[in-house]
Amino acid sequence: MEFLHSVLVVGHMIGLAAIVGTFLLQMRKNGDFAVLAIFGGAITQLVTGLALVGVAEMGDGDLNYAKIGTKLVIALAVFVAALLAWLKARKGTNDRSIKPFFHAAGGLALVNVVLAVFW
Ligand code: HEM
Repeated sequence: MEFLHSVLVVGHMIGLAAIVGTFLLQMRKNGDFAVLAIFGGAITQLVTGLALVGVAEMGDGDLNYAKIGTKLVIALAVFVAALLAWLKARKGTNDRSIKPFFHAAGGLALVNVVLAVFW
């Protein structure tokens, strides 16, 4: 269980890096966003985050459900923003119109990092 927990934390950090890293690198751009990276990162965060909760529930660790619920709602918003950006880009419009979705996903992921660490 300890090994599985460590694997999931590594996945959680890679998903985080995919969203926040891509966002910080491309936040000044007006098109050609790497939407697949933030979309993949958003899916990774939901999957690894929920799996981490499952693993913690099987152990005897105390879980802060208010914090987990808040993070889950924000992660779902990140996922929807990234999904909309990805769908638009898939239709061939990877231009300035994607920017609000890109910024929403990146900004909200940063909010989740702050929540995860300070709460
Ligand atoms: C954009 C989405 C997310 C980001 C950026 C994020 C970020 C983080 C960060 C930075 C940590 C490390 C905190 C620390 O060790 O002090 C963490 C841990 C954790 N996150 Fe997330 N998270 C996200 C989504 C989620 C979701 C959706 C869940 C579950 C519903 C979740 C559950 C957890 C759990 C259980 C831990 C503790 C892992 C451990 O045992 O060390 N996260 N997250």
